[in-house]
This record gives sequence, C-alpha cells and structure tokens, in this order.
Amino acid sequence: MGRFRYQATTEEGKRISGVTTATSIKTVDLEQRDREKRVEKILHRADDADIGKYDHFMMKEICEQPAALDRSMRGRLDAVLGSSRLGGLQTHEARLFDIRNVVFLACGTSLYSAQVGAYLLNRYARLPAVAEDAAELSVKNPIVDRHTLYVAISQSGETADTLSALREIRMRGGLCAGITNVVGSSLSRETDFGIYVHAGPEISVCSTKAFTAQVLATELLALRFARMRDLSAADGRLWVNALESISAQVGLMLEQAESCKLLAQRFYQSRFTMFVGRGANVAVACEGALKLKEIAYLPAEGLSGAAMKHGPLALIEPGLPVWALVPPDVTRERMLGNLRELKARGAHITAVAAGDDEEVHSLVDEVLALPPHHPAVSPILTVIPLQLYAYYSALKLGYDIDKPRNLAKSVTVM
Ligand code: F6R
Repeated sequence: MGRFRYQATTEEGKRISGVTTATSIKTVDLEQRDREKRVEKILHRADDADIGKYDHFMMKEICEQPAALDRSMRGRLDAVLGSSRLGGLQTHEARLFDIRNVVFLACGTSLYSAQVGAYLLNRYARLPAVAEDAAELSVKNPIVDRHTLYVAISQSGETADTLSALREIRMRGGLCAGITNVVGSSLSRETDFGIYVHAGPEISVCSTKAFTAQVLATELLALRFARMRDLSAADGRLWVNALESISAQVGLMLEQAESCKLLAQRFYQSRFTMFVGRGANVAVACEGALKLKEIAYLPAEGLSGAAMKHGPLALIEPGLPVWALVPPDVTRERMLGNLRELKARGAHITAVAAGDDEEVHSLVDEVLALPPHHPAVSPILTVIPLQLYAYYSALKLGYDIDKPRNLAKSVTVM
C-alpha cells in the first residue's frame, strides 16, 4: 500500500490534512500541530461480516460461538500454573494484589455476563464482587475507594450509560478495567487496562456470541484472582482444562438445535415464559428471558429459584412453559425442589441438565443435555439452548430477527 494524503476544510475555514500509510496515520489538529495515531490490529476475517449460508446474522453468530471462544482464549491459559495470562492485567499486577472488591458496570446482556463474573469472583477467588447496572450509577453518588477494581463490560464499547458510569468512577480516582469486543472503542480508550474478547463483529442487534465471550473474559479474570488468593494450582488446572474443552462442549449444545426448534414451534404463542436458575445461572435465566422479549416480543421473566415462592409461583398454570437450569453443581438439590413445585402446578418444564441425571428426567417434560463440565463454566453451556429457543420463536412468528423493533445495536444515548 502506498501513501494516502487527504485534505479538508473545517466549518471555520481552517485547512486540515493527514497522511495514511500501511503502518501509520499522521494528522494535524486544528492548530496544525502534528498528531500521530496508534495503529491497532483488528483480527477480523473478511467473511466475518458476511451472512454466508445463514438466513440471519443471529443464527450465524450463535453458531460461531465455538470459534469465537477459541479465539478469545488463545494464548491466555497457563496450563502449567493453572492460571490465566491477561496482557492488560500484567502492567497492574502490583495494584491488583491490593484489590479487595470488584464492581462490574454494564447494561443489558453485558450486565448478565457481569453477574456471572461477580459470582465467579465471589465463589472461586473469595473476592467480594457485585455487578451494577451502569445506568443506575448516576443516581447513586458512588463511593469509590482505592482497593476496588471497577470493570466495565460492553460489547460495543460505546454504550452511553456504561461510559458515563466509567467516567464518573475515573473522575473520582477509581482503577478501571474494560472488557469489550470492539478494538479502539471509547471503552477501550478510557480504561486503565482491558481485555478484548475477540468474538468478531456482532451484527445482529440481539447479542449472543458477545455474551459467551464476555463470560469467558470474566472467567479468565476470576481465575487469575482466584490463583492470587485462594485457589490451589491443582484446582486452577482443573478450571484451565474445563476452559480448554469449552468450545467443543458448546458445539455439543448446538447439536441440540432441532429440539429447541420443536419447542419453539410448540410454545411460540405462549402468553408467558419463565426461566429459572440458581447461582451463576440466575443471570443466564435472565439472559434467556431477555432474548425472548427482544426478538420474539414474548413476555418472559428470568429469576432465581429462591425467589419463586415469594411471588412469581402465582404465575404458574397448567401448560405454562418453564425453562429450568439444573447443572450438576451446588445448585442442583435446591433446583430439584423448584422442579417439584413447578411440576405440582402443571408447568411444562424443559430442563437444561446433565444428560444422565435420572432424577431431573423424572420431574420434567424434556431435557437438553449438558456434557460433563466444571461448574465454573456452566453459564457458557446453559445459555446456548436459550439463544436457539428465542431465535426459533422469532422465526416462527415471522419477525425481523436481526433488527428487532425499537432497538439499536449500540445505545449511544442515555
Ligand atoms: C441484548 C443486547 C443489549 C446490550 C446492551 C448493552 O441482546 O444486545 O441488551 O447488551 O444494550 O450493549 P453493550 O454490550 O454494547 O454495552
């Protein structure tokens, strides 16, 4: 490539100019001072933004998840130490040692990935962590302290509410990290360090592969903190092994698309759908409900199994579709209790559970099978059938799947 020179005139009549080459971009500002820009390499392939053999970008992006997860993980796992390697973090290792709290800031689907991250940090790193709706921060007058790490998560890196929360925290001196998919986005420029998720361009308004890639980024962060604090090398290696297998396991979940399609064809006219989980899968239940609302315009609620008897159980009536997330972990026993309550009221229950869990099988109408996995990675697996169910519901209803009404890919207004 040669040199590309451009010239333009500002509204005030000033001449500005710049020179672009394969390796640099030189511009001058309004005062004619030289301004050198940084070149960032974007790892997209030419067909990333091409719909290919798919009818919708959403389905393409759902199916791209194994590849996106592999890309997100590349070079970031340390199988020997049983830990993760995150370039951005390394420059702040000394400060990370003094971190005593983590606060995630995000909106929508990214907020749900943040909730998974907070759960992982609490459980495995024994580090107090919360996920805050970034849009609510402005009314909270947040207390910022030097021992808290703030982590803003945004696929686009341009969500106004998330950026505004981030700016408020930075202005008060807080240490801010970013997790984003878009290289060079405002979020990546305005944080102290960050993690790119490298999911590739997400074109459908409805976020799918960014969610799993963001969850993966929080897994890597939690693993790093866990190894700095409480987790043994042996347990760290188990987690690393689980992450190494995750893309193949997501592939197994995708193979169950036909069952999700049949369920959607049966329930696409339901006046209400409930998604129930516990632990990290409360966030996945909320994400499943959000997908269904967003593209199939179907009323849905995602909630904790613990919250059911405090009100939402009143909504259950015979035949109502309920999705229950019952992975074989510490949440299973209590989820079995929820399944019994739901069955007694005649709900049609679809469980996402271990394929060989006979007890779950006996309580529900059908099971979408989870392969054996480490409990820390279950949200990356349980969400796949929920994405597929929302897709096939919207397809059956004939809606514009990639461009749902009233929504934009990037919400740049507050
Ligand atoms: C849902 C969805 C939205 C976004 C939210 C935040 O499928 O796409 O809820 O997750 O608007 O967007 P980002 O992640 O770009 O900050």
